[in-house]
Amino acid sequence: MTVKENYYNVEDYTELYKSVGWEPIALENAKIALLNSVYSVSIYDGDKAIGFGRMIGDQIRFLYICDIMVRPEYQGQGVGRMIMENILNRINEIKKLEPRATTYLGAVSGKEGFYEKFGFKTRKEDGTGEGMVLH
Ligand SMILES: CC(C)(COP(=O)(O)OP(=O)(O)OC[C@H]1O[C@@H](n2cnc3c(N)ncnc32)[C@H](O)[C@@H]1OP(=O)(O)O)[C@@H](O)C(=O)NCCC(=O)NCCS
Repeated sequence: MTVKENYYNVEDYTELYKSVGWEPIALENAKIALLNSVYSVSIYDGDKAIGFGRMIGDQIRFLYICDIMVRPEYQGQGVGRMIMENILNRINEIKKLEPRATTYLGAVSGKEGFYEKFGFKTRKEDGTGEGMVLH
């Protein structure tokens, strides 16, 4: 397996999206989204994209983890952990520059336990109120 940081292949990203049952956005818009990421990690098995995750935000104070996905046939084998550990390494570098750097994410229902493994807690547990969303 190969780990590629800040590598953006819109076709692979879109294909991975479909593999986990999500509806991808148009390629030209996905390209804009990816190129505006703060950090990303892509996992490949040979030429095949098998996992991806990225972080968006203002680089220093507020960060947001999104698009964490592992191709179904590779799930349960530590690929998600590999993605998260790379992202957490980047967060720790940012926190050396700004200790108050704060990272958010919106867990898909049933995936909260995955993120808890890496120290995330719900805003309720954190005593900071509900997260909110606008579609
Ligand atoms: C969520 C997802 C990224 C996890 O990836 P994965 O490669 O299967 O995860 P890993 O095998 O690396 O698991 C890492 C750890 O998290 C745990 N874990 C994985 N999914 C979990 C879940 N839904 N609930 C609780 N724990 C979970 C594993 O048991 C493992 O624990 P361990 O390291 O202590 O043994 C993957 O299931 C996925 O892509 N799902 C579809 C897309 C999705 O829902 N993404 C999340 C969006 S918020």
